[in-house]
Parts: sequence; structure tokens; C-alpha cells
Amino acid sequence: MNSSEFIRFNAVKKSYDGNAYVVRGLDLSVRQGEFLTLLGPSGSGKTTSLMMLAGFEAPTSGEIYLDSRRIDQVPAHQRNIGVVFQNYALFPHMSVADNVAFPLRMRGVNSTEIGVQVKRALDMVRLVGMDQRRPAQLSGGQQQRVALARAMVFEPKLVLMDEPLGALDKQLREHMQMEIKALHHRLGINIVYVTHDQSEALTMSDRVGVFDKGVMQQLAPPDELYESPSNLFVAQFIGENNTLTGNVIALSADRCTLRCSDGTEVLARSAPGLMVGQSAALALRPEKVQLLANDAVRSDSLNVARASVTDLVYHGDHTRLLLESCGTQDFLMKLPHHTAPQKLVPATSLTIGWAVEQCRALPLH
Ligand SMILES: Nc1ncnc2c1ncn2[C@@H]1O[C@H](COP(=O)(O)OP(=O)(O)OP(=O)(O)O)[C@@H](O)[C@H]1O
Ligand SMILES: [Mg+2]
Repeated sequence: MNSSEFIRFNAVKKSYDGNAYVVRGLDLSVRQGEFLTLLGPSGSGKTTSLMMLAGFEAPTSGEIYLDSRRIDQVPAHQRNIGVVFQNYALFPHMSVADNVAFPLRMRGVNSTEIGVQVKRALDMVRLVGMDQRRPAQLSGGQQQRVALARAMVFEPKLVLMDEPLGALDKQLREHMQMEIKALHHRLGINIVYVTHDQSEALTMSDRVGVFDKGVMQQLAPPDELYESPSNLFVAQFIGENNTLTGNVIALSADRCTLRCSDGTEVLARSAPGLMVGQSAALALRPEKVQLLANDAVRSDSLNVARASVTDLVYHGDHTRLLLESCGTQDFLMKLPHHTAPQKLVPATSLTIGWAVEQCRALPLH
């Protein structure tokens, strides 16, 4: 392990039934102080990975290290990790203060010290004055804050959170996202967070690991995931995306030309695994597409295509245009209002374009 590395998974596999693997050879390195999020569809192995880190599940094979120490055989309560799991509820019969004090009591801390630390933890999550209430007398967001205080009161260097905001409404959820982010910043701890909400992952994390079928598909900072997805799954899972298909007719180290089924030729950034003569996908974000003058011509840096409007949906700050273009009926484009021309109706013919830099050719699985 190098000095800035805090967590390492080495070829970790997990099977619950001794037959199918739900985590298939996970290699992951998390840096000191990082906020790392595992993102992926339901059943992709996120919770299982987090449970193995917490010590609630043992890997079938592989190794897990925390702060240079191998921990995969260490019992959960000796790992000194704070956890906030959705199904790891507060104790309903205990007051807020007793809930928060629980991890300290388990560690044999004396009662004067417990009083001081509980007060500090409740202060941190802004729940001072609520210490004698029972969980049932709190709102959902307040209960989540008690769970946070309980996970952090013993000052762990690592806190694991599995969908901690799943049950909250949108406004409270966004508020708690900011609070968790601020706590992370202020305390300088490591957080490994699990969500299937991509906007939550992109706004909160230093890096995001995208899971599918027990395999980490890509691990990268949010902007890199969005701008440079390394495969089709990531391109389609993160944000909105047009996926065009075409035949690879020319290929160099960093550029690729695809011919779509309607004959349109598109120049794109290339990814490993493409071959001339084979079909490939082309990933293009709807907001990167622009309207061009009818006489616009293709260049080394700009793609140009003909399109016909099939549908328009007004969205307040932009209009979404569904187009027939590049051999597909569902080519999506987002047009900011100030750039929208008059009289855009179904069947209008348009010339559209996008920068070569903004689209990426990817192997079809
Ligand atoms: N205790 C268990 N026993 C048997 N199979 C399990 C167990 N826990 C999870 N699984 C299976 O392992 C796979 C991965 O589950 P996991 O809970 O890790 O997914 P997840 O990515 O957290 O999904 P979600 O977003 O729905 O929470 C699923 O197919 C699930 O059915
Ligand atoms: Mg889960």
C-alpha cells in the first residue's frame, strides 16, 4: 500500500450461495480523506461490498486492507468503522442521547466523557435540545442526523453509509447531502457511500465507482465519468445519452469514423476495443448538440448531420427535441430557449452538429 492509500480491496469475490458471484473480483483503492461513492443499479453488489468492508459479511476470496492492516478476518466491532445503513435503525426505546451514547458505552468510555462527546456529536448534527426525545418524536431527517451522530461519535476515521437518505423527501434529501458533505470536509474523515441516485453520487463524491453485475465498470471523478465514460454501460447509466450505432470505417489511436445506417459519417474520439469493419456505439450527450446553418460542413473538429423534428417538449429553461437523424428515430437534443428558432414544429428539417471532442465511439459490449 502506498502512504496515501486508506482502503484496499484485492481481488475480492463474494458468493452467498457458493454458486453465483455477486461481487466478481473487486480491486479498489481509496485514498486518505476521500469521499467515495459506489453507484449502480439494484442488485449490482454495492451493499455487499460495503458489508464486507464493515465486517457484516466475509469475502468468499480476496483481501481487504484498512490503514495498512488486513481486516477481512477481523470482527466488525474491532474495525472501528462508523456505519449508517438504511436497515440499521435507531433503538426506538432509547432517547436520542442514549442512542448516540451507545457506541461509547460499548467501548467502555466513562460517563462524564460520554456526556461531553454526546453533546459534541449532537451539536455537530444540530440536534442540541432534542437529546431526551425518542426517535418516534423526530422527523425523518432528524432521525437520520441521530444515526449520523451515532456513527461519528467515537471519531472513526471511516464512515460507511448505505442509501442513508433513501427515505427522505427531495428537499430534505438535498439538505442532508450538503450537511454530510460539510461534515466530511470539516472532520477530514473517509466516507464510503452507496446510492443508486446518480445526481447524489455526482454532487457529493470525490470519486464514483460505477457497479454493474458485481463488476466495477469505472472508477473516476464525477466530471470524468460524465465526459469520458469508458464503456457503454457507464455512458448510458450516467446522465442522458444518445447511443447511435454505426460501422467503423476508419480508426486511428484517438479518432474513429463511423458510418450510420442512413449514410451519415461521424468522427468521434475512439476507445480501446474498436475494429474496422465492425459495429460500434457512439455516445453523445443531448446538450452537446447544436443547431447549425443549413450550409454548415463537416470538418476535423465538427460533425454535421441532417435531422427532422419528430417531437418537441417544453421544459422551462430548455426545449427537448426528438429528432430523426443518423439512422435513429430517437435522437435527443436539448435546446436552450435563447437559441431556439421560431416555428419549430414536427417535420421541420434541421442541420445539427456537435464537436468531435464531445462524442465517443465505444465497443458494443
Ligand atoms: N444475504 C444474502 N443472501 C443471498 N443473496 C443475497 C444476500 N444479500 C444480497 N444478495 C444478492 O446479491 C446480489 C447483490 O445484492 P446487493 O444487496 O449487494 O445489491 P445492491 O447493489 O446493494 O442493490 P440495491 O440498490 O437494490 O440495494 C443481489 O442479487 C442479491 O439478491
Ligand atoms: Mg443495496
